[in-house]
Amino acid sequence: MTSQALSLVETAAFIDGLWIEGDDSFDVTNPADGTLIAQVADLGASETRVAIGAAHRALPAWSAKTAKERGAILRRWSDLMLAHADDLARLMTAEQGKPLAESKGEVAYGAAFIDWFADEAKRAYGHTIPTPMPGKRLASIKQPIGVCAAIAPWNFPIAMITRKVGPALAAGCTVVVKPAAETPLCALAIARLAVEAGVPAGVLNVVTGKDSSAIGKALCDDSRVRKLSFTGSTPVGKILYEQCAGTMKKLSLELGGNAPFIVFDDADLEAAVDGAIASKYRNTGQTCVCANRLIVQAGIHDAFVARLSEKVDVLKVGNGMTEGVQIGPLINAKAMRKVGDLVNEAVLAGAYVTVGGGDDPFDPQRFFSPTVLVNVTPDMRLFQEEIFGPVAPIVKFTTEEQAIELANATPFGLAAYFYSRDVGRCWRVAEAIEAGMVGINEGLISTEVAPFGGVKESGLGREGASEGLDEYLETKYLCFGGVG
Ligand code: SIN
Repeated sequence: MTSQALSLVETAAFIDGLWIEGDDSFDVTNPADGTLIAQVADLGASETRVAIGAAHRALPAWSAKTAKERGAILRRWSDLMLAHADDLARLMTAEQGKPLAESKGEVAYGAAFIDWFADEAKRAYGHTIPTPMPGKRLASIKQPIGVCAAIAPWNFPIAMITRKVGPALAAGCTVVVKPAAETPLCALAIARLAVEAGVPAGVLNVVTGKDSSAIGKALCDDSRVRKLSFTGSTPVGKILYEQCAGTMKKLSLELGGNAPFIVFDDADLEAAVDGAIASKYRNTGQTCVCANRLIVQAGIHDAFVARLSEKVDVLKVGNGMTEGVQIGPLINAKAMRKVGDLVNEAVLAGAYVTVGGGDDPFDPQRFFSPTVLVNVTPDMRLFQEEIFGPVAPIVKFTTEEQAIELANATPFGLAAYFYSRDVGRCWRVAEAIEAGMVGINEGLISTEVAPFGGVKESGLGREGASEGLDEYLETKYLCFGGVG
């Protein structure tokens, strides 16, 4: 890391405007080579309750500011992130592993959520409601929901925090953030920039710790926390959902996916191949919206497989800090084992590897080769589970109905993609697919201005866009009597 990036490294947690060392610490290591980057404060349930208390005390003054005043502070924060984009990106690549170009992209993506919601809060409109009774006047207003908890994953160490904290702060809420134990440094670095931007003490708190279950439970159990937003796996999302029932919290859950990527015979072949690569291999296959199952029509199948394999074969694997690298390490040894097992099981059951297929020679302990598999069948585990690695399994189909049936044969419904040049088919398939987001002739769909979220077991609620602000607001109905 550069000396500037090092100057953004904070290892203490951030509560009530203070940097808290704690009694213990945990290691943050670089997934590309296993080296120790930092030792970060290891806090638990009791410190989490202290952070909730701070957020609770800070709430009246923060929510009393006008949306414009809050927006001005948020805009400064976003500008500071962009001003430090190179350093934040280096920090991100060091702790998360993604190629530097992708880290830079994520810093911009993360800052964009803050910038977007800095403006959007000014439009938190209520309604006046035509009265059904003489003498009464009806209206609704929007108010901040209160103290919010944001539990963030390791795959997008900045953007998944700002996508929650941006709308929360803009709406007038205060927040306790729990970053992933793998990637706390980006969270702490942006907290430091928040202080510089003028976010008051207690409004944003960052509780670091490796006991995610204890911290998560403390956030769920506390009645002062009125909303919890979580991005992560479906099993953990279900636990949090249950734990929040006791205090009836509002929830946003952005959970696992199993995105189908359908290529119809009438698709533009080159565009479909490029879209598949962009969607599948982004962040080394470690995104919830990565294409997980490539479902390709018989007439274009062989040409698609050949072109995709050719292009995947030349993807550059290596340490994300190295110029030109496109595929970084997987996050840890457990992820390496899971991806390896899924591929091996599929091959034993009859799938065929056209490129890649196992641990990468760059470093077989930490890197998995970008892989394409054909002869995959829907009963294989890698067709049913989120792979979270650089592996593209391809299933062949014949009719449009069959493609939709295959696409929907999953409990998940986050993102879906398809390529076709037939306008009628584009509408039919987009409507029939059970997913919260559909890319039509497009493999990259994420942006702060569109509603991000899933259906079925992929979660609840939407992040980004005007829907993202609503998640942090309550509607209050006002009935004025005796008006005459
Ligand atoms: C995710 O993987 O959870 C988020 C991906 C994105 O925002 O594009």
